[in-house]
Amino acid sequence: MQKQKVILVTGGNRGLGLETCRQLAAMGHRVLLGGRDLEAATEAAQALAADMVEGVRLDVTSPSDIDALVRHIDQKYGRLDALVNNAGIMIDGDLGHSTSIRVADIDAVERTLRVNTLGPMMLINAMLPLMERVDDARIVNISSGMGQLSDMGGNYPGYRLSKTALNAMTRIYAAELDPARFRVNAVCPGWVRTDMGGSNAELSPEEGVDTAIWLATSDDATRSGGFFRKRKPIDW
Ligand SMILES: NC(=O)c1ccc[n+]([C@@H]2O[C@H](COP(=O)([O-])OP(=O)(O)OC[C@H]3O[C@@H](n4cnc5c(N)ncnc54)[C@H](OP(=O)(O)O)[C@@H]3O)[C@@H](O)[C@H]2O)c1
Repeated sequence: MQKQKVILVTGGNRGLGLETCRQLAAMGHRVLLGGRDLEAATEAAQALAADMVEGVRLDVTSPSDIDALVRHIDQKYGRLDALVNNAGIMIDGDLGHSTSIRVADIDAVERTLRVNTLGPMMLINAMLPLMERVDDARIVNISSGMGQLSDMGGNYPGYRLSKTALNAMTRIYAAELDPARFRVNAVCPGWVRTDMGGSNAELSPEEGVDTAIWLATSDDATRSGGFFRKRKPIDW
């Protein structure tokens, strides 16, 4: 039986985040389900498993939400074993605009970087003191094949840039943090049926979260500083 972990999942109220919380709770872990709306996060948590999952307010772009959550986790649990940076947006081309970089909406690009990249960076930095209290802490950044430099295509500049930068960030943290105590990895979940992925996507949410859960919890020798899909390393 694996030791119970305290795990924070951002954007836990729907899509891949919600499924991640569901599976982690079913494995016996204590899950903090982060949501921008506390009521929605609490409702989602209670519907999953009120004794294992706790809804918490967390807009990843909000320093005050992050500070309050650090204090809450410190007081209630005294540590954080794993952080799953799942929250993300893809708003290039919203309102029917083209998604070409040539007509990129710079405000949308900036907003995307704030949510998908800078939010995770602020959150990791804030949570590090709580994660330094455990022996084998995990940081899992939910990235995307759309951020792969080795397979870069056109369109969706904000989203692509944010995920390429998230990948770079993964490598930077892996370089700075002791790999014997921290494993920091990025994941491409594949194309998954959620609000973001749409109904034609290949994978169910159950399939889409498998690699992230493995990286967050497994005792298998997952290295630090990798990019994974279907539990296998992929090119950056
Ligand atoms: N679905 C796919 O095919 C696919 C493929 C590759 C990568 N991904 C990545 O997987 C992750 C989850 O995607 P998904 O498909 O589950 O998307 P989704 O269904 O659109 O859900 C996105 C989640 O992020 C939350 N969120 C957005 N902005 C936030 C903020 N500022 N602070 C906190 N939470 C925020 C949303 O909360 P609200 O309900 O409050 O908006 C929601 O819970 C994303 O990082 C995405 O880029 C998805």
